[in-house]
Amino acid sequence: MKNKVLFIVTIIVVFLLGLLASSIVNRKSEAKYKYVPQVNIAENEPRNEVWGENFPLEYQSYMQTLDTTFASMQGGSATHDVLADDPNLVILFAGYGFSKDYNQGRGHAYAIEDINNTLRTGGPKGDGDGPMPATCWTCKSPDVPRLMNEIGIDEFYSGKWADKGAEIVNPIGCADCHNPKTMKLRITRPALVEAFESMGKDINKATHNEMRSLVCAQCHVEYYFNKNLPGKEGIPYLVFPWKDGMTVEDMEAYYDNIEFSDWTHQLSKTPMLKAQHPGYETFTTGVHADRGVSCADCHMPYKSEGGQKFTDHHIQSPLNNTSNACQVCHRAEASKLIENVYDRQRKATENRLKLENMLVKAHVEAKKCWDLGATEEQMKPILTDIRHGQWRWDYSAAAHGASFHSPVETARVIGSGLVIAQEARVKLARLLATLGHNAPVDFPDISTKAKAQEYIGLDMEKLKAEKAEFKKNLLPKWLEEAKEREAKMPINAVSATN
Ligand code: HEC
Ligand code: HEC
Ligand code: HEC
Ligand code: HEC
Repeated sequence: MKNKVLFIVTIIVVFLLGLLASSIVNRKSEAKYKYVPQVNIAENEPRNEVWGENFPLEYQSYMQTLDTTFASMQGGSATHDVLADDPNLVILFAGYGFSKDYNQGRGHAYAIEDINNTLRTGGPKGDGDGPMPATCWTCKSPDVPRLMNEIGIDEFYSGKWADKGAEIVNPIGCADCHNPKTMKLRITRPALVEAFESMGKDINKATHNEMRSLVCAQCHVEYYFNKNLPGKEGIPYLVFPWKDGMTVEDMEAYYDNIEFSDWTHQLSKTPMLKAQHPGYETFTTGVHADRGVSCADCHMPYKSEGGQKFTDHHIQSPLNNTSNACQVCHRAEASKLIENVYDRQRKATENRLKLENMLVKAHVEAKKCWDLGATEEQMKPILTDIRHGQWRWDYSAAAHGASFHSPVETARVIGSGLVIAQEARVKLARLLATLGHNAPVDFPDISTKAKAQEYIGLDMEKLKAEKAEFKKNLLPKWLEEAKEREAKMPINAVSATN
């Protein structure tokens, strides 16, 4: 009797295991779904809602990137003011747009709204006005591939940010990642294709699994604007500095060789590098990348709704979705997985803040040296250290998710940054003594964002007023112009054309 029960139980268990295995296999193969096309999507259709006619499940999940309610320890979609959280950053970015305004990123559907709102893009009054080049639009919208097709890549990168404002209105979406005919993943940003070429690789040979990360690498990467490309002089051409490799040292050597700097630091006069967001680069050094896990596996896992399985286009922090994002591979409890992530983030942050404090002091001490009459020659080795130290700090801070994507590499980068920043401060102490200052340098009160911005002389009221005027006058004109243009773009129902 006992044996019989055991036998039946065993059969049931084996059967259930079989079911589980087949569901895992299914998950790994492409999601199956009923496909009833409603419209013929044009080659460069930028409007996500038009694609949504054919793919309602993907579109509806994409629209959930509008949700801003989830906050994790360091990330999530709830936006917050990074400068208010940590006024040190105002000093680190003195003389650069990020000292004016810096908000935590949120969902893709906000990309256009957020770039229009940030004080970094200023308050242009019309064409040719404002602080930013047109190139800044490149990672914001499916209007980018459309416009590049219409006017050419060089022309797209030319001119001011404001010049293209009326053209670029749809937030990051379907056309950025998909071929409308086949729905296959595609690369639409020339900078990624060109970066592969510079490494002697052909991106068209990427595997399907690699594409599930490379679509993200179109934007979540380190980049710079090269104004000296042969034949394209003067155009701020978007380039990913991967020719000599993607590590923090490789890209630093690349920039040093061409003597590139993103800006000159207002206090220390250092020729600075701004690490943008080397998310893809840092990811490739982690254990998940090593095991062939792709960005989409965690940020776009499969999901089921009404018996239909599809790719969840609610791209967000996977910590808001651990059952689909992690537990398909890991058997640990959600709380355990989240704790694992937080643990890595906390430990990386602990040392990154130490590095940050040293860099802030180094900038202020370097300013003191200049004030006391230091020469360019005396300052040069110090400024090189500050440049390299802050590049490492930024590389680990701005590569969103890096402390989880690749905790060991992130710790290594911060560690080497600490050594370099320490060397800078030893040199600074010696130089200060030579210049007759043999005491600690007076340190400004930068305990709040407002105090820090006042210290570096930013007129925030003026910047805010300019932005308000832009939103009142120019922005509505852009949107009106875009509406008229899009009203003329045909949407062909399938029955009408087939
Ligand atoms: C193994 C799962 C996994 C993979 C693979 C992965 N990520 Fe992440 N990612 C995470 C987790 C976990 C976080 C931390 C989220 C948080 O702190 O709320 C994160 C954070 C991020 C963030 C910051 C999000 C926020 O809310 O602050 C971005 C951006 C990001 N990842 C992009 C990428 C890109 C691009 C790739 C591929 C190159 C990638 N991720 C691969 C799990 C993953
Ligand atoms: C066309 C450029 C572009 C592409 C392609 C792109 N992203 Fe983003 N991503 C952005 C921008 C810009 C933001 C910030 C938007 C904002 O804050 O307004 C962002 C934000 C995010 C966030 C933060 C969202 C949140 O709620 O915290 C995550 C996570 C993310 N992206 C992951 C990915 C992944 C994974 C891929 C590939 C599947 C990808 N992105 C592809 C440009 C892009
Ligand atoms: C940041 C890149 C990105 C964007 C933007 C994007 N997708 Fe996807 N999409 C993916 C990835 C990755 C997959 C999984 C493809 C695979 O593994 O074959 C996918 C899969 C799909 C599929 C195949 C069926 C499925 O659900 O797996 C459809 C259909 C689709 N997307 C529609 C859309 C639509 C509609 C939009 C715009 C609302 C959109 N996608 C925006 C990256 C993107
Ligand atoms: C597609 C499968 C897959 C997914 C999805 C996945 N992982 Fe992993 N993860 C792995 C593999 C494989 C390893 C390597 C260790 C091993 O082989 O057991 C790993 C390793 C880890 C490690 C230890 C490595 C380290 O960084 O120290 C942690 C922590 C982890 N995963 C957390 C997560 C979290 C959190 C998520 C969801 C956001 C997630 N994983 C999603 C497959 C996956």
